[in-house]
Amino acid sequence: MLREPEARDRAAFIELLASPEVHTYLGGPRPRAELERGTPEVPERWPGSFVVDLDGSMIGQILLRRATGHRRPAAAGKADLGYLFLPQAWGRGYAAEACAAALGWLTDALPGEPVVLTTQTANAGSMRLAAKLGFAEVERFEAWSAEQWLGMWSPLTPPS
Ligand SMILES: CC(C)(COP(=O)(O)OP(=O)(O)OC[C@H]1O[C@@H](n2cnc3c(N)ncnc32)[C@H](O)[C@@H]1OP(=O)(O)O)[C@@H](O)C(=O)NCCC(=O)NCCS
Repeated sequence: MLREPEARDRAAFIELLASPEVHTYLGGPRPRAELERGTPEVPERWPGSFVVDLDGSMIGQILLRRATGHRRPAAAGKADLGYLFLPQAWGRGYAAEACAAALGWLTDALPGEPVVLTTQTANAGSMRLAAKLGFAEVERFEAWSAEQWLGMWSPLTPPS
C-alpha cells in the first residue's frame, strides 16, 4: 500500500538512510547518529512522497519530485522517480508493484505527464526495475564518479 509518511515510520526512515546496502550505488549511507538527531518526529508530507507499507510496516519509500535542478537538460523540470526499499524486502516484486502504482497516481493527477529516472548502470536491480516499469533510455552520462543512466517513461507507452 502507498500512503503518507507517519510518525511511526521514523525508525524505518532512519534504517533506510543509514543502510550501507541500500546506498551501495547512491553515494554511501548517512551516519546513523546524525539521522537520529536530525530526523523529525513527524516526517514531512507532500504530494509525491509515499511510504510503501506492507502489512502495517514501512518497507520502502517512493518519491516523485520535480527535477528542477537536474544536470541533464532532457530531465530538467520533469517529474523524477526515486525509490528505496529495505534489503529484507528486496526480490519479491514489491518495488515493481509500488512504483507502477505511484506512476498510476501521477497519471491520474497529471494526465500525459512523462517521468524521468536516473540510476547508476552498475545498479542491476534498479536498471531491471526501470526497464520493467517501461522506462526507455534517453542517455548515459558520467557523474559522481560512475556511469549514470537517464530513462524516461510516458503513460502513452505500454511497459515491455
Ligand atoms: C532497486 C530496488 C528498489 C529493487 O527492489 P525490489 O523490490 O527488489 O524489486 P522487485 O522485486 O520489484 O524487482 C524488479 C525487477 O528487478 C529485478 N531485480 C531486483 N534486484 C535485482 C538485482 N540485484 N539484480 C538483478 N535483477 C534484480 C527483479 O528480478 C525484477 O525483474 P523480473 O521481474 O524480470 O525478475 C531495491 O534493490 C533497492 O531499494 N535498492 C537500493 C536503493 C536503490 O538503489 N535505489 C535506486 C535509486 S536510483
